[in-house]
Order: sequence, then C-alpha cells, then structure tokens
Amino acid sequence: MDTTALHGWAAGEAGRPASPDWTIPQHWERYTPEEHATWATLYRRQMALLPGRACAAFVDGMQRLPIEPDRIPNFEALSDVLMRHTGWQVVAVPGLVPDDVFFEHLANRRFPAGQFIRRADQLDYLQEPDVFHDVFGHVPMLLNPVMADFIQAYGVGGLRAQRLGALEMLARVYWYTVEFGLVREDGGLRIFGAGIVSSAAESVFCLDSPSPNRIAFALERVMRTRYRIDDFQQTYFVLDRLEDLLRLAEIDFTPLYERVARLEPLPPDAVLPEDDVITRGDGRYHRAKMTPMA
Ligand SMILES: [Fe+2]
Repeated sequence: MDTTALHGWAAGEAGRPASPDWTIPQHWERYTPEEHATWATLYRRQMALLPGRACAAFVDGMQRLPIEPDRIPNFEALSDVLMRHTGWQVVAVPGLVPDDVFFEHLANRRFPAGQFIRRADQLDYLQEPDVFHDVFGHVPMLLNPVMADFIQAYGVGGLRAQRLGALEMLARVYWYTVEFGLVREDGGLRIFGAGIVSSAAESVFCLDSPSPNRIAFALERVMRTRYRIDDFQQTYFVLDRLEDLLRLAEIDFTPLYERVARLEPLPPDAVLPEDDVITRGDGRYHRAKMTPMA
C-alpha cells in the first residue's frame, strides 16, 4: 500500500500533528486552484442529485451555511454561523484521528474535519474522510438542533463505551444513523447520513436500488448489526423522524451493552422475523460482486 498518500492516524507516527488534540491550521489560503476545482466538481454533482433525496434539515443547513459551489469552505466562516445557532465549531485535522480524540472533540461540540481533499483522479475513491465528506456531508446537519445534540451525546457516549469495551456496538449506531441513516419525510424516504449524501452513487443506490433492505430503526437491532466499510450498505435503517435521535441521546446504554454483548452479531444483510421491513432487498448488487468459490 502507498502509505505516503495516507493522512492523520492512518499514516502512523508521520501523520501525528504536534497538537495533542490533533488539530492543525486549515491554511485555507494554501488550497490550490485544482483543489478548489475538485470541490466544485463534487459539489455540483451532488447538488444535482440531492433534490427530493436529501432530508429537509440537510437542505436547510446547506442554504444557511457559507458552503459555496466553487471553493472549499473556510472552517472559521462555518464555525461563526454554527456557533451562533447550535454552538458547534469545525476544526481542521490531518485526516483520521484516534477514537478518544474524536470523541473528545464531539463531546465539546467541535467537529474534526479532514483538511485535505481527494485527488481529482479519485473522485469516487475515498479511503479516508476528506474535506468534502466531512464538510459537505456532516456540517449542514450540525445546524440542526437535534443532530447537534445527538452528535455531542455520541462523543460523550463514545468515551464511556471505550471504558466499558463496548465501542463496536456504539459505533454501529453512529454508522447506521449519522453516516448512513435514512428518515421518513413527506410520504417517502430521505437521506440524512453523511456517508450517503457525500457519495453520488450511494445517493441513488440507497433509495432506488431493489438490492438493499430498508428496515425501521430499532436500537438494539442496530447495535447487533455489522456493516460494510468497503462498499454500499446491504441494509439501511430508517428513522420515523429525526427527533427520535433525541430519545437515543437520553438513554443509558450501559444495560443495553450487557444485553447485546450476549447476542450473536448479525451480518449486514440479515432480516429478522421481528423487523419492521419497509423494503426487503433482493441482494442482487452484492451477490453479483461475490467471487465464485473455487
Ligand atoms: Fe463521516
């Protein structure tokens, strides 16, 4: 693997900045015209796709924040607006950061965003979250008071889950909501997960493909469910409304961890008799990619 292309924690010691909280200056003035052009390409592609697909909170955040078509956003300008409304800031980090650093930032309403942008010849290839994923995908939702509180609670919960050895179960909740969540809205399904909303192909796949399952969100069910990091999800979990996240933020997860830890984890494509299935996927996409056994 070409490790010189990795950023932050993924790059090992070479990626560790001097600051103990892993923040670095954004150095907005140092982005090149090519880097701004990569942003512009990604921005336009997503904005053409998202009407009728992204949830209202995302659209609202996008309209009210200084996120423009032609240039990588300035984190200070984003933080000025976020701070006034939901008390959040965006801070620059070199790339991935260790879990405890990530949780500590979230618990203090600081969203760590990758400072770099993907290469122009790798628009759809994202090994690590970059400024497009982090800012276009996550930041609009931080202007929503429900999501603002939920992500902070996730940071606090993450620090606790680390001490309890329960991080895997909590991370599944984050994955299937903040990153890959769908929500019912206006009689249909809408995207609120940053991993989807920042991906052209998955923005279409998650709503239109007959392949994945779409199942009503149930907390313990999600805590048991493994997920894919290398491809589209095989199952999307659907909230009735974003406000349901507030209830999650108030729950004491400790007894849940004990209960779920005694159960077998579920594969990403599982469908259980007790699931409230919205769409039963036919699995064709992932089946077609499986290599035949020798
Ligand atoms: Fe993300």
